[in-house]
Amino acid sequence: MAQLWGGRFTKETDQLVYQFNASITFDKRFYSQDIRGSIAHVTMLAKQGILTDEERDAIIEGLKGILSDLETGKLIITTEYEDIHSFVEANLIDRIGDVGKKLHTGRSRNDQVALDMRLYIRDEIGEMDELLKDMLSTLLSIMENNTETYMPGFTHLQKAQPITLAHHIGAYFEMFRRDRERLSDIKKRMNFCPLGAGALAGTTYPLDRFFSAELMEFTAPTRNSIDSVADRDYLIEFLSAMSTIMMHLSRFSEEVILWNSNEYKFVEIDDGFSTGSSIMPQKKNPDIAELVRGKTGRVYGALMSMLTTMKGIPLAYNKDMQEDKELVFDAIDNTKGCIALFNGMMKTITFNNDIMAESAKHGFTNATDAADYLVNHGVPFRDAHGIVGQLVLACIDRRCSLDDLPLSAYKEISPVFEEDIYDAISLKTCVEKRLTYGAPGPEVMKQVIDECKKYLNY
Ligand code: ARG
Repeated sequence: MAQLWGGRFTKETDQLVYQFNASITFDKRFYSQDIRGSIAHVTMLAKQGILTDEERDAIIEGLKGILSDLETGKLIITTEYEDIHSFVEANLIDRIGDVGKKLHTGRSRNDQVALDMRLYIRDEIGEMDELLKDMLSTLLSIMENNTETYMPGFTHLQKAQPITLAHHIGAYFEMFRRDRERLSDIKKRMNFCPLGAGALAGTTYPLDRFFSAELMEFTAPTRNSIDSVADRDYLIEFLSAMSTIMMHLSRFSEEVILWNSNEYKFVEIDDGFSTGSSIMPQKKNPDIAELVRGKTGRVYGALMSMLTTMKGIPLAYNKDMQEDKELVFDAIDNTKGCIALFNGMMKTITFNNDIMAESAKHGFTNATDAADYLVNHGVPFRDAHGIVGQLVLACIDRRCSLDDLPLSAYKEISPVFEEDIYDAISLKTCVEKRLTYGAPGPEVMKQVIDECKKYLNY
């Protein structure tokens, strides 16, 4: 083990303690952010006259060498160092000698780790946003192609009113659009630079924190050095945003699973995104959708863990906070993976339009439209509701739909009905007439689709 401290210790660290304390196995993930932060730090130190230009150049060259050796695999991160910060610093000293020992001037691992994690999360938010954007374009192309693909809309999982596939998918489009907004809000709020906060109380060196912040494209430095090293709010917000993304993906997965079932047969998941059974040869299972639904739980778990970790720790830094990394990394990997896989599944899925339309025809999804017909002929809505209720009963008796009930049966219940009732309650009319903004009527749907296209910069 190679440590950054030890001057005041008279005994070696116990091996188990060393392993328990170490974070290198997971914080090695942000080696490039650690190096970027160090380069900015020495650039600022030299500008302030705390390091000479030669010292700065030697350190930056050493750091760049470490970065490129790590990227080409020439240098491997090993567990003999406690964390990525120790690893980089020790390597730097190995490479460039004593001048490397000046890197940590005016800095603590507390502000260093706070910076690295922010830089890393900022990058990850960008990547997650790109994945969401990709998925939104998949959803948009399904919408564009299906403004007249009829299907039942449900409430309580009971057929309610006819809608279109474009309209249903459009609901998810809105959810994932809000998810992107949440990510961008978090990015704005977290984009302040903690470097220069030191261990907790700033430093006595004349650091220019505004300059460091600018070098790393932060909005500004953080305003309180204690808060800078103690704050993990942005991780909680990010975990919450990821939980919401997963919740949306999970609901969508649940629908795909239902739609793919023998009972619905609304969709056919592509062979490339399905799995088989080891015993039942006929099976084609929606495992991907089920796993997305399943992994939602662990992302929620990470959010709960993080909230619990933070709830009782006094200011400022405490080692408990090291727990943030594995939780957040796991949540990021799973959320990104789920978005990408779900997108792939939706890109290749086939919709059984005929089955969906047939399903919309049954289950009295046009009952509201029959009532609206009466209202258009002067019957008050509450009375119309009662009349159509009786019609539905009559249909159940005869085992037929409203479309197949003879006009005589209609007239028996209300003389207002005429031959044109059939046209008024046809699937096509039911959908086409729903023209309130945000409704499935193809004309308004096209307007919404145009707005979605603009949003995605098409
Ligand atoms: N590995 C630590 C973490 O992730 C780095 C900060 C260590 N600071 C300290 N005072 N021990 O939180």
